[in-house]
Amino acid sequence: MPELLYEGKAKKIWATADPGQVEMEFKDDATAFNGQKRGTILDKGVVNAKLSATLFAVLERAGIPTHLVRQVDDRRVLVSRLEMLALEVVVRNVVAGSLGQRTGLADGTVLEAPVVELYYKNDALGDPLFNDEHVAVMKLAVPERLAELKQRARAINQVLSAFFSELGLVLVDFKLEFGLRPGGAVVLGDEITPDTCRLWDATTRERLDKDRFRQDLGRVEEAYQEVLKRVAGHGTV
Ligand code: TMP
Repeated sequence: MPELLYEGKAKKIWATADPGQVEMEFKDDATAFNGQKRGTILDKGVVNAKLSATLFAVLERAGIPTHLVRQVDDRRVLVSRLEMLALEVVVRNVVAGSLGQRTGLADGTVLEAPVVELYYKNDALGDPLFNDEHVAVMKLAVPERLAELKQRARAINQVLSAFFSELGLVLVDFKLEFGLRPGGAVVLGDEITPDTCRLWDATTRERLDKDRFRQDLGRVEEAYQEVLKRVAGHGTV
């Protein structure tokens, strides 16, 4: 029986025979607002495992290093073990969610240039927004590393925005988490799924992501399946 190393809100992390690799198991559990709202999205784990593995493969092909090794079964993805940074890097192309609340800009406003934000990954504090100086004083990343993370996040945004655009989807915003390989190289970890992205239909602006769960918009499962259908139809899967 493999050892359960960690259980988060949406994933379990299992040890493997190789100490340098772990398996991520994607759950159907959904939470929002720092765990205050809880529910289940049927087969979300299956959709998210496939989507995340596919999107990480797209990034690898574009020359961006990630933790992906391979998808193992319908809910599990084998990845390199990383020392994760306690940072969430959010990239925004269009105003939605907390950016609208923080700035007063209307939802759907297209930003002139992508905005990169940093959050301190700390549930007890509710993942607060950090600036570069907070990152430095909390020793989350030295300035050179932070610059590298932001640059990497912008490159990922270019690749994924173009990829989703071909599928008739607008990548409104998304969250990334990075980690370090034993030698110190920065590698993209965690997941990229409709839990961690906002994806809108390019024509109808219909929300096809976790906002359907957060805001009780209905048709949550259908939205996740629609994203999978479009990505699978792309021929990269
Ligand atoms: P926000 O507008 O709520 O700050 O979210 C920005 C993006 O980050 C959005 O695509 C959802 C994603 N996100 C997470 O993946 N995890 C989180 O805990 C939060 C708050 C947002």
